[in-house]
Amino acid sequence: MEIKVQKDTQLRQVAVPPGAGPEDLLNTPVIQEAAKVLRQGGLVAFPTETVYGLGANGLDSQAVAGIFAAKGRPADNPLILHIAAVETLTQIVPEVPPLARRLAQVFWPGPLTIVLPKGPAVPDVTTGGLDTVAVRMPDHPVALALLAAAGVPVAAPSANISGRPSPTEAAHVVADLQGKVDIILDGGPTSVGVESTVLDCTGPVPVILRPGGVSKEALEEVVGTVELDPHVQGRKEIDGPVRSPGMKYRHYAPKAPAVLVRGEPPELFRRLTELARELEAQGEIVGLMVSREMLEYWRKQNIDYSHWQIASMGSRTDPSELAANIYRCLRDLDETNVTRIILEGVPAEGVGLAVMNRLQKAAANRIIDA
Ligand code: TXA
Ligand code: MG
Repeated sequence: MEIKVQKDTQLRQVAVPPGAGPEDLLNTPVIQEAAKVLRQGGLVAFPTETVYGLGANGLDSQAVAGIFAAKGRPADNPLILHIAAVETLTQIVPEVPPLARRLAQVFWPGPLTIVLPKGPAVPDVTTGGLDTVAVRMPDHPVALALLAAAGVPVAAPSANISGRPSPTEAAHVVADLQGKVDIILDGGPTSVGVESTVLDCTGPVPVILRPGGVSKEALEEVVGTVELDPHVQGRKEIDGPVRSPGMKYRHYAPKAPAVLVRGEPPELFRRLTELARELEAQGEIVGLMVSREMLEYWRKQNIDYSHWQIASMGSRTDPSELAANIYRCLRDLDETNVTRIILEGVPAEGVGLAVMNRLQKAAANRIIDA
């Protein structure tokens, strides 16, 4: 039986002066109040450097159940525990292997989630019944202040309704979760824009279960070989159990069906243009998510793109800029009346791998090679 809870959601601005750290925010009334809500079993949405999270006390099964209800999230999709200090790991895992310790030293606080065998204090609801647990220390003063003030590990998925793009602004959280959570902390737009890299550290060689804000290249500089789980490539034909349950769900889907076009300019730009014209000729209202370079190409070729809905992701040569913009672009296109969406593929290097992974998901694996 599903229990629907109507909550009186409070939207609170958290002023973060330039250069402010978590210690400057810790004793502010807004952080103290939000921390109290968490300790009492409530739900608080808060900014991190990646995307907004929907938090509850991760050691309280009932509070965690509230997250699944608010998001409409399948119960077998486990949550990440967020911590403000490495020492808190001892509450969550029986032991910290040297490799995980090294990764935490280098990349925390930051967009890296480490998966380890779980300790008995972590309830099954939090891990979706798995015997492993995912942990990360976010790099955001509001998140760190909230976690420190709450004094408990905070389970937090992205603060969107399941199946919607992850929220990178408080307004996105309001659109999805108004009336379903107690407090939404507004700390401005997030900087990274895609979720953390999820790294399985339970075996001898770490495996990327979800590409994200920390690149494979950066991880390899610290720990040598890192593998990429085959499911990350979006290859559906792979047999066997999915190691990260989140990967089997259709995520980040815009309302209109999307197709991803991969390749290199100028062939890529020609194919994108051709496809937009074909769809238009079939009576579709076309939206495109493209790079600045694509826009320049149209201008130079005198191609009129004014009758298409355009969402501009940034430069193809700057994966961080693309990452910061993709979810907002997907949401922006959802606000229009487009009936078909064309996504421009970008180089899958560095954080670009995470960007391409999210674009593939948005396209539900409908991919064209130019
Ligand atoms: O950047 C982020 O990671 C954001 C912010 C809020 O921290 N959180 C986030 O959470 O993206 P969520 O729940 O939307 O995605 C968590 C991912 C899912 O794909 C889930 O399946 C995977 O992490 N995951 C969690 N626990 C796991 C575990 N024990 N083993 C394998 N995968 C796990
Ligand atoms: Mg999510």
